[in-house]
Amino acid sequence: MESTFQATLFLILVTASASQDDCFCQTNKWTICAGNQYSNNCQCTLLGLGQQVNCSTLTSKCLLMKAELSSPRGRNFQKPEGAFLDNDGLYNPDCDDEGNFKARQCNQTDTCWCVNSAGVRRTDKGDKNMKCSELVRTNWIFINLKHKEREATFSDREVEDSLRQFIHKRYMLHQNYITAIAYDPPIIHIDLKQNATQKRYGDVDIADVAYYFEKDIKGISVFRQSMFNLSVNKEPLDIEEVLIYYVDEKLPEFSMKRLTPGVIAVVVVVILAIIIGITVLVITRRRSSGKYKKVEIKEMGEMRRENS
Ligand SMILES: *[C@@H]1O[C@H](CO)[C@@H](O)[C@H](O)[C@H]1NC(C)=O
Ligand SMILES: *[C@@H]1O[C@H](CO)[C@@H](O)[C@H](O)[C@H]1NC(C)=O
Ligand SMILES: *[C@@H]1O[C@H](CO)[C@@H](O)[C@H](O)[C@H]1NC(C)=O
Ligand SMILES: *[C@@H]1O[C@H](CO)[C@@H](O)[C@H](O)[C@H]1NC(C)=O
Repeated sequence: MESTFQATLFLILVTASASQDDCFCQTNKWTICAGNQYSNNCQCTLLGLGQQVNCSTLTSKCLLMKAELSSPRGRNFQKPEGAFLDNDGLYNPDCDDEGNFKARQCNQTDTCWCVNSAGVRRTDKGDKNMKCSELVRTNWIFINLKHKEREATFSDREVEDSLRQFIHKRYMLHQNYITAIAYDPPIIHIDLKQNATQKRYGDVDIADVAYYFEKDIKGISVFRQSMFNLSVNKEPLDIEEVLIYYVDEKLPEFSMKRLTPGVIAVVVVVILAIIIGITVLVITRRRSSGKYKKVEIKEMGEMRRENS
């Protein structure tokens, strides 16, 4: 009863506000819309790009990155002295007509590299003659969240149930693709797996889900009404760190001298310390035990050197 009442109230409120604010895109605030929300002819296009977006689903990561880099917003802010610039994670991508990353990215320069379907670099950089024969799919994303210290820990079960529901509801990801959630306080580990054969028309891509999630955690939600309220058992879950690892269907092709022999699954990683925002490439390998071990941390050193 009460919920019906609330739903009705909500509808009234939404309708009331919609008359001022004709039509909007709930899943992407970086849009301009025209038309009428409730007669199904609300058309929204990306700010600065004019590309049409489907507001019943997530916008692709490629288009979001492009909109972010094309948008004049925030351009005037200077980078604070000594701040670390996340160069590798952020570039102005080329997207295809469906909004997917093109296999080869050059950031509008003469230096090019190949990316996976999550837009993460998976080869060394080369010149503009570089070829990338196909877009390799990222079929596994694993996310490690670290929550703020708290007196009582949550139960494993509560954490798993809440996060599963949360990801499913907020990012519209089918539960089948959330293959594991494990909790070892204060770390929560989430596995998202989705290969090309499994993905059905209309399914959101795990790479887009991870990007929306990352933005939510960083407090710069892509949703129009953000209300990012992650909670477990009615208690807020405050995340202070997030690491997102991208695992591709095929091994990345970095200069092989860097890889240890016997590597089975190689993982490309973007680590996001919430405030600093660094991009690090970590090569991990899967051992027969199923555990993951970092065998090499590359590039953080390189980037630090470049910056110092
Ligand atoms: C892409 O280009 C922008 C602007 O020129 C630059 O700031 C950024 O570092 C470049 N990113 C990469 C990955 O090269
Ligand atoms: C895709 O995933 C399903 C379910 O995990 C698995 O059975 C299938 O073999 C996978 N296909 C490929 C091409 O990896
Ligand atoms: C928009 O996305 C929804 C959900 O994936 C899908 O059912 C619908 O067909 C899409 N609409 C268009 C115009 O592509
Ligand atoms: C977040 O959600 C919890 C549980 O649903 C609720 O108790 C709390 O009031 C919410 N907080 C905000 C700021 O919406």
